Amino acid sequence: MFLIGMAMAHRGADLKVGGTISLRLRRAAPSILRNPAGDCFLRQSEVIYPTSGKSIVKFQLISPAWRLVLGLYLVTGGAGFIGSHIMEEIVRRGEYVRVLDNLSTGSKDNLSSVLDKVDFHEGDIRDPATLRRVFAGVDYVIHLAALSSVVRSIEDPVSTTEVNLMGTLQVLLAARDTQVKRVVMAATGAAYGDSAILPLVETLKPTPLSPYALMKLTGEYYGQIFHRLYGVEFVALRRPTPLPWTRPLKTSHHG
Ligand SMILES: NC(=O)c1ccc[n+]([C@@H]2O[C@H](COP(=O)([O-])OP(=O)(O)OC[C@H]3O[C@@H](n4cnc5c(N)ncnc54)[C@H](O)[C@@H]3O)[C@@H](O)[C@H]2O)c1
Repeated sequence: MFLIGMAMAHRGADLKVGGTISLRLRRAAPSILRNPAGDCFLRQSEVIYPTSGKSIVKFQLISPAWRLVLGLYLVTGGAGFIGSHIMEEIVRRGEYVRVLDNLSTGSKDNLSSVLDKVDFHEGDIRDPATLRRVFAGVDYVIHLAALSSVVRSIEDPVSTTEVNLMGTLQVLLAARDTQVKRVVMAATGAAYGDSAILPLVETLKPTPLSPYALMKLTGEYYGQIFHRLYGVEFVALRRPTPLPWTRPLKTSHHG
């Protein structure tokens, strides 16, 4: 990972397949570097030993630049309202990011400014085979994919439970099995129901009043249990409704 980190320092230089980069190293470099998915992307072409004791190793790039991965983010639900803003910020910071979204309430249009810079996968968080494929090499998961309408959850609690609870469980299982470093999940301030006590703080007792809030809260508890049982690092953010809306929404009454 150290070597990949060094290579990352060059990523802004618009690396092209066939081009070379030079890394100044204190230790011996392997002749080939692979990304976390196991694909070979850099081949050592020349080593120069200056008097400083460090060596300068030239590598030839043999696969596309986005594969120069130090920390690979996966954003589930990245084509949604919140997800697309997070995607833009991750790309702005020059990080590498993969998206998993089934486009049920989100849209690729939300990602138009970054789509050519991200690794987009259309698929469902409830499908373990899809998760196995997209979790390969991922370091950090930002888990946003959900049915986020409170009203919909009251009208159709089954689909909300399937996506928001079972989908979250599948995400946690995939994170455990692929040794993801951290899962950050979008939880909800709706967990506090109609609390008269303000401000809302984590020490308040949750009182979910809808299937949406209940499934989000249960997903949080699942994350805590996965941390205790399997050491999966897990953070849940109980967000209030973010305003202002800056993109058209396919659903209403988000929670
Ligand atoms: N918007 C809010 O007010 C608010 C407040 C607190 C928490 N949250 C949470 O933040 C997250 C994002 O909310 P949002 O407002 O951006 O909602 P959104 O509907 O715009 O985004 C959700 C995304 O998840 C995708 N998705 C849904 N089911 C999926 C599945 N089975 N597999 C893969 N992708 C799937 C949708 O296509 C969509 O792109 C949700 O988890 C939501 O519960 C939202």
